[in-house]
Amino acid sequence: MIRAFRDPDLAAVYALQLKCPHAAQWCKEDYSLLAADAHGMILVAEIETLARVSHSAEPFSSGQQKGGTSVPPPEEPLFALPSPGPRRLEPQAARAGRDKSNCPPFETAGLEPRPSRCGEESGPERSEVVGFAAFYRVNEEAELRNLAVDPAHQRRGVARSLLQEGIRRLKESGVRRIFLEVRASNHPAITLYASLGFRLHATRKEYYQHPVEDASLMALDILPPFKAP
Ligand SMILES: CC(C)(COP(=O)(O)OP(=O)(O)OC[C@H]1O[C@@H](n2cnc3c(N)ncnc32)[C@H](O)[C@@H]1OP(=O)(O)O)[C@@H](O)C(=O)NCCC(=O)NCCS
Repeated sequence: MIRAFRDPDLAAVYALQLKCPHAAQWCKEDYSLLAADAHGMILVAEIETLARVSHSAEPFSSGQQKGGTSVPPPEEPLFALPSPGPRRLEPQAARAGRDKSNCPPFETAGLEPRPSRCGEESGPERSEVVGFAAFYRVNEEAELRNLAVDPAHQRRGVARSLLQEGIRRLKESGVRRIFLEVRASNHPAITLYASLGFRLHATRKEYYQHPVEDASLMALDILPPFKAP
């Protein structure tokens, strides 16, 4: 399921970012501010998993009920904070692409629990955030500012679903063109963007640091440019 970011997702989104060095490495507050900004939009991909019921006699921690079944955190309302300054998608270290697996596409993958470990049984369903996409809109243009999918859930269509839903929502709100920047060596991401219709718009020489690398500025026209009558 693709849905809007909520405050309780922050820890999961931040953890995803840390697992993906190619994603822009933001601090937690950046996500909170972007989500609260009227021009910002963060979408998360959530799947249902089965909570594990352990037979071990470990003491209960907060968030666990007797029997070891995890309790999902309570839903919290969207927060409203001041607007953040502009930030751009800024992937960090280069990273090799993953091999394509035989995993099912995202739509069906969400219905399938992970296999149990030894000594554990499946408990009630709970949800897990496995990817996110962050956008920022300025008038009729928007930017994709960050994107990451948990490495354990890649190549199942999660990112494609996130971007398609983001594009749909932006189009509905009147956005005509979406931009993004990506490291020239990030072939998995570039292949993904190209498959959705993004085209190379410009190259920014030595835009990234650590390591120094060009940025490919890609653009997708989702509505024809406005022409005054
Ligand atoms: C790039 C990234 C978001 C893709 O997420 P994903 O959920 O695995 O992507 P999808 O499963 O939706 O893939 C959709 C298409 O993208 C392309 N693609 C995705 N990963 C690829 C890879 N490793 N190699 C080649 N093509 C890839 C393919 O065309 C794929 O379609 P296919 O599976 O039918 O061939 C993910 O690899 C990631 O989080 N990378 C680290 C963070 C990052 O690079 N963010 C972008 C910064 S600009």
